[in-house]
Amino acid sequence: MRLRDLDPLSEAEITLVAERMGATLVEVEGQELYDLDWRIARVRWHLEAANVEARVVLGIDEGGAIVGHTILRVELGLGLVSTSYVIPQARRQGFAAAFLQDAEAWFRARQLPLTATWTSSTNEPLIALYGRHGFAEDQRGPNDFTGTMMVRLAKRLSA
Ligand SMILES: CC(C)(COP(=O)(O)OP(=O)(O)OC[C@H]1O[C@@H](n2cnc3c(N)ncnc32)[C@H](O)[C@@H]1OP(=O)(O)O)[C@@H](O)C(=O)NCCC(=O)NCCS
Repeated sequence: MRLRDLDPLSEAEITLVAERMGATLVEVEGQELYDLDWRIARVRWHLEAANVEARVVLGIDEGGAIVGHTILRVELGLGLVSTSYVIPQARRQGFAAAFLQDAEAWFRARQLPLTATWTSSTNEPLIALYGRHGFAEDQRGPNDFTGTMMVRLAKRLSA
């Protein structure tokens, strides 16, 4: 297993991540919400330093296949894990845990005081994963578009 940043010149990698963002929404919220072009634009937005300080990180298996991704960004002074996804066949192998460790290291290097992510209150795998890494729910509220109850899982990085 290894992690690397998405190649911003690779249409294929950008499209793959955008497709899997759609798969995440279907799996977690039961609907896609945005079309593929919107999601491709959203991935690209994260790759432009003029927009945001962010990274799109890929998980690569032993055979070289891209089996997962995570998107990190600095937002309102905190380190936000915007999304994580691992294909079903590659789950429970530690990819998401590796993404989280990589994210924390990157946020700490930026001296951000807090890291957090938002997910559905019913997303037990993700809540279990973050709980193991020292995150706890500190906010909740409905998604404006879907009505899904969302929780914020947060962890203080400063002493
Ligand atoms: C949540 C998700 C990213 C986890 O990816 P993963 O690579 O399988 O996770 P890991 O192998 O790193 O799991 C690490 C730990 O997290 C917890 N965990 C992960 N999946 C779990 C599950 N299905 N049930 C319970 N705990 C789970 C466990 O503590 C696990 O450790 P263990 O395997 O030693 O028990 C993956 O299931 C996924 O892509 N889900 C759909 C998309 C999604 O929910 N994304 C987040 C939206 S905000």
